Amino acid sequence: MQESVNINSSFKQNLSEVDSAAHLEKLLRQQSQQPSPYENNLAILGCGYVGKALAKYWQKQGHFVTGTTTSQQRLLSLSEVTSQVILMKGDDANAVQSLFQDRDAVVVSVAPTGSKAVSEEIYESTYLPTAWNLAKALNQTPTVKQIIYLSSSSVYGDRQGEWVDESSPIAPEERKSQVICEAEKILLQAANENQKVCILRLGGIYGPGRELTRMFGRLAGMTLAGRGERFINWIHLDDIVGAIEFARLNKLEGIYNLVDDSQLTLKKQAELVCLRYGLTPVQWDPSKPSLKAKSVRISNQKIKAAGYQLVHPQLFLVPTN
Ligand SMILES: NC(=O)c1ccc[n+]([C@@H]2O[C@H](COP(=O)([O-])OP(=O)(O)OC[C@H]3O[C@@H](n4cnc5c(N)ncnc54)[C@H](OP(=O)(O)O)[C@@H]3O)[C@@H](O)[C@H]2O)c1
Repeated sequence: MQESVNINSSFKQNLSEVDSAAHLEKLLRQQSQQPSPYENNLAILGCGYVGKALAKYWQKQGHFVTGTTTSQQRLLSLSEVTSQVILMKGDDANAVQSLFQDRDAVVVSVAPTGSKAVSEEIYESTYLPTAWNLAKALNQTPTVKQIIYLSSSSVYGDRQGEWVDESSPIAPEERKSQVICEAEKILLQAANENQKVCILRLGGIYGPGRELTRMFGRLAGMTLAGRGERFINWIHLDDIVGAIEFARLNKLEGIYNLVDDSQLTLKKQAELVCLRYGLTPVQWDPSKPSLKAKSVRISNQKIKAAGYQLVHPQLFLVPTN
């Protein structure tokens, strides 16, 4: 496992967006252990940032894709990348049940949206009723052979920079992470011999429209308390779409971490991003204690051992124009 990155090797990953999409398709074709099963009937509960990108990819592959949103205003734009859009929430048991009808697989990519500071109550009311309804619908719909559920690596909590993998015990202190764990458990318990549940625990998501430069740009030129030694785990949008498709084609079940190989400290990430985009470097003041924040290194060996090859193993920093 890699603990540090060579700046130059990071930049070698900077394929153009077009090359990157072609590379993703080629990798997925190579990694599939069976001929590409076109024209499946697939549903995505929660067509936000990830769900929409997945819908676009699947529709291009010729599948019948049903996507959902909770907002009337998004219906039109989603209709361009799906075969069908449904306005619904996961707490509506009947709507979840009908979403499952005749589907081959369902991807769940739900997250509370709207307000920036999402409360614990909103987490509970978003994730838990949705999980119960999904479990019930799976039970009642034998055509659905797999649920792929997008979860979060935040379930590992703070490990003070230690490595964790899928077998590591989890006991998150924060209520929000506890809710995510509960949702995972409800889904895993609903699996049976013919209906698989695959949980992907994602690192922080970045990609087009959620560039790292936006996140780190705010820190440029600032002096931050501490040494920046905490580890932050990322995953690029291309790899989320890629891993979901890999999980579907290879009928994965159980829990898989999905983070890249970079495993960098906050300090190194800030250095890379500032250097790449010509931003004023971030300074650190070790005389001041760091703000309390999680630090954990997450192993991605399990999904790689299953055969998935990352499209962006290192931080993908898009060239500036
Ligand atoms: N963001 C991260 O860095 C991160 C990190 C780890 C894991 N994850 C997980 O990755 C997945 C994808 O994240 P994302 O960034 O693509 O999320 P996103 O852009 O916020 O999209 C979330 C989607 O869920 C829908 N939604 C919200 N509340 C719902 C409800 N009660 N019932 C049904 N649908 C509901 C939203 O509806 P609208 O279309 O109406 O907005 C939206 O389509 C999520 O499962 C998230 O928990 C995210």
